Amino acid sequence: MYRSHTCGELRDAHIGEEVTLAGWVQKIRNKGFMIWVDLRDRYGLTQLIFDEERTSKEILEKASQLGREFVIQIKGTVIERQSKNPQLPTGDIEILVSEFNLLNPSLTPPFTIENDTDGGEELRMKYRYLDIRRNPVRENLMFRHQVGMKVRNYLSNQGFIEIETPYLIKSTPEGARDFVVPSRMNAGQFYALPQSPQTFKQLLMVGGMDKYFQIVKCFRDEDLRADRQPEFTQIDCEMAFVEQEDILNVFEGLTRHLLKEIKNVEIGNFPRMTYAEAMKTYGNDKPDIRFGMKFTELNKLAQGKGFTVFDEQELVVGIAVPGAATYTRKEIDFLVNWVKRPQIGAKGLIWVKYAEDGSLKSSVDKFYSEEDLANWAKETGANPGDLILVMTGDAAKTRTQLSALRMHLANKLELRDPKEFAPLWVVDFPLLEWDEESKRFHAMHHPFTSPKPEDIKLLETDPGAVRANAYDLVMNGNEIGGGSIRIHDKQTQSKMFDYLGFTPEQAQAQFGFLMNAFEFGAPPHGGIAFGFDRLVAILSGQETIRDFIAFPKNNSGRDVMIDAPAKLDLEQLGELHLEVKP
Ligand code: AMO
Repeated sequence: MYRSHTCGELRDAHIGEEVTLAGWVQKIRNKGFMIWVDLRDRYGLTQLIFDEERTSKEILEKASQLGREFVIQIKGTVIERQSKNPQLPTGDIEILVSEFNLLNPSLTPPFTIENDTDGGEELRMKYRYLDIRRNPVRENLMFRHQVGMKVRNYLSNQGFIEIETPYLIKSTPEGARDFVVPSRMNAGQFYALPQSPQTFKQLLMVGGMDKYFQIVKCFRDEDLRADRQPEFTQIDCEMAFVEQEDILNVFEGLTRHLLKEIKNVEIGNFPRMTYAEAMKTYGNDKPDIRFGMKFTELNKLAQGKGFTVFDEQELVVGIAVPGAATYTRKEIDFLVNWVKRPQIGAKGLIWVKYAEDGSLKSSVDKFYSEEDLANWAKETGANPGDLILVMTGDAAKTRTQLSALRMHLANKLELRDPKEFAPLWVVDFPLLEWDEESKRFHAMHHPFTSPKPEDIKLLETDPGAVRANAYDLVMNGNEIGGGSIRIHDKQTQSKMFDYLGFTPEQAQAQFGFLMNAFEFGAPPHGGIAFGFDRLVAILSGQETIRDFIAFPKNNSGRDVMIDAPAKLDLEQLGELHLEVKP
């Protein structure tokens, strides 16, 4: 038996007991006549003591040769500590070591394995297995497990059945590029890794499985960000004989359950907002509603007063930034330059300081009287002490730019409280989205999403205005999940492929299996998928999903620990019928 207890377990009630522990050496303090060692395992930290008087010479000698991260097994007696450590659960006791067994030595770790480490991101990724020994990483992985268990239990109790779907499939369009796998047995042919199990879960509905779920890996070859990994995990669900309302209720129930069970936060009915409203009010389809700074359109008040910068534009829109009237010239200039950076791409930023004494001063005083500015203040809901920031231009672009500024300011003003949870549903997404690059419409969610019946007639005349039965769950400014009611008849589905620019032959070749299945009694169905990594990060008050994945990829999609992707040798390439240019 390697151990009788874990390193997190012993308390003063154990004093006098003989115990055996095994773990890693975290810290050594050697006074010569006395050595203390902090022994760590997954469960905690226990202090070991070796001393001249009570420990044999041989063991003291061995202990003096220990290094950080050596793996040892010890036997000893639990004794009361001289100086207790109230910060540590095992802080009342220590182990007076009587037997010692070195299980494995260790090289000096490249960074300190403590809560606050001196290791940079890249180094920690290269030695991820050492990083995982640190409390914050280990706790994140344990938290992820806990959320996963709660999700499984909840859905299972609601009658959902977890079914695995294949990873070696044919392309499923979710808007990203596919990762592909060459087939050795089928020369020149490739599998695609699923961007989601979308078509399979729909086929499970045709197969009569009704309530399906799966905690499943998905693969997308897309640009990476803090909330995106090339392989990530979804809580994927599908239900038969449902309308949008049924899906929203079940998954609002799941989210509420998780918030209550994990965060002890109780939230009533989630607010709902149409996509159009979210864009108009927050310039964003995943608004963070924990704070205000809602958009106010100022076209009526600001245009036609001789300020040509505003006059010719589609939109003049402002926000009131709480308490920011005291910003210095330098701080405001910083904001102006911030929005002008290529990443944001704005032409400029107009400001109005609404001072505590009620006076108003702006960057456009030449064109607007104090009374004009007072009207802006009234319209934007600004209070004395606030700073009003106004942007103008093409409506869609300007909204996106102001939204980025709103989020930047919220971070700066610390308005995004990680302990607060503000979920909402965004509904009525457009069915189609215009793509400038390819000069055609793409499915905004995916091509299996059904249009709202009342909007179908617009497909011919104004495709961009057609709304879909599609919805997103948003929390704290992050898209946690998205789903839709699906098309379930062949005619509508083939029409949709037609609108999306597929020839009938292409549609048949790529999605014939699904359209054929629709001819064998496909039930009305719909579903949703939550980003599991995102959900876990947000519940934990964070936004970087990498910290909640055991072995994540870096921003270039590389696993720097195993050094992947990597080249294949010529023999393997040959077997796969691949040629690579030298
Ligand atoms: P969607 O593409 O909206 O829908 O994805 C669902 C959720 O998955 C998460 N997500 C990601 N998380 C981490 N890294 C990524 N690269 C990444 N991409 C997406 C997001 C997102 O909300 N099949 C549909 C669902 C359906 O219609 O039922 C789908 O995959 O949190």
